[in-house]
Amino acid sequence: MDPEARKVGQRLFLQNCAQCHGSDARGGRGFPNLTDAEWQWGGKPSDIKTTIMNGRQGIMAAWGDILGKDGVKEVASYVLNLSGRKVDMVEAKKGETRFAVCAACHGPDAKGGTAFGAPDLTNTTWLYGGSRQVVEETITHGRHGVMPAWKDILGEDKVQLLASYVYGLSHTGQSAQ
Ligand code: HEC
Ligand code: HEC
Repeated sequence: MDPEARKVGQRLFLQNCAQCHGSDARGGRGFPNLTDAEWQWGGKPSDIKTTIMNGRQGIMAAWGDILGKDGVKEVASYVLNLSGRKVDMVEAKKGETRFAVCAACHGPDAKGGTAFGAPDLTNTTWLYGGSRQVVEETITHGRHGVMPAWKDILGEDKVQLLASYVYGLSHTGQSAQ
């Protein structure tokens, strides 16, 4: 991206995106970090453009009633262990069996799926938080992250600039500031 276009992209980002993703684009709880390698909805330039044009809705259903308190605990142990946390392995083993219902979106290997915006659960990057309490809260109550659509607000040319800017952040290590 040439420096002039990058400057415009940065200005547009600060005006329209920083309120949720932060002026450094590193996000916060419920708002994804746009400078790292994890992409819920895909990290190709065309994926990023589609995300910004049309918006995205991440829908993680509530599993509390279906799994019950023990079921939530077990599947949380399985998920936490995937990212290297020490857990009760008997519990995690039971959770692994229960994970079949989660695999539909998160994949059998729990590495996520961009078709549903389901995050990779095997790394230490968390959209909502990786403490046992927060993971159990996510599974029990579900989550619904909304990325607004910008096509009608900014138009395609500005969205294209923003998409290139965002792509650049995660691929060149350039800081947003
Ligand atoms: C219908 C698809 C779908 C199913 C089935 C599903 N999830 Fe999710 N999950 C998602 C999506 C989409 C998100 C991201 C929600 C958002 O963007 O707000 C998510 C988010 C999460 C998160 C938060 C990750 C983070 O980075 O903070 C956890 C933990 C999780 N799911 C675990 C599970 C478990 C365990 C199950 C099975 C009991 C499950 N999910 C079933 C789609 C699904
Ligand atoms: C009102 C808050 C809000 C604003 C403003 C906002 N976003 Fe988002 N954005 C979100 C949320 C929440 C998500 C995650 C959606 C989900 O949970 O699936 C997201 C997701 C994204 C993603 C996908 C990340 C991934 O991992 O796939 C990109 C790219 C993105 N935003 C770029 C932008 C850009 C560029 C702007 C400015 C034009 C912008 N956002 C403005 C809330 C916002």
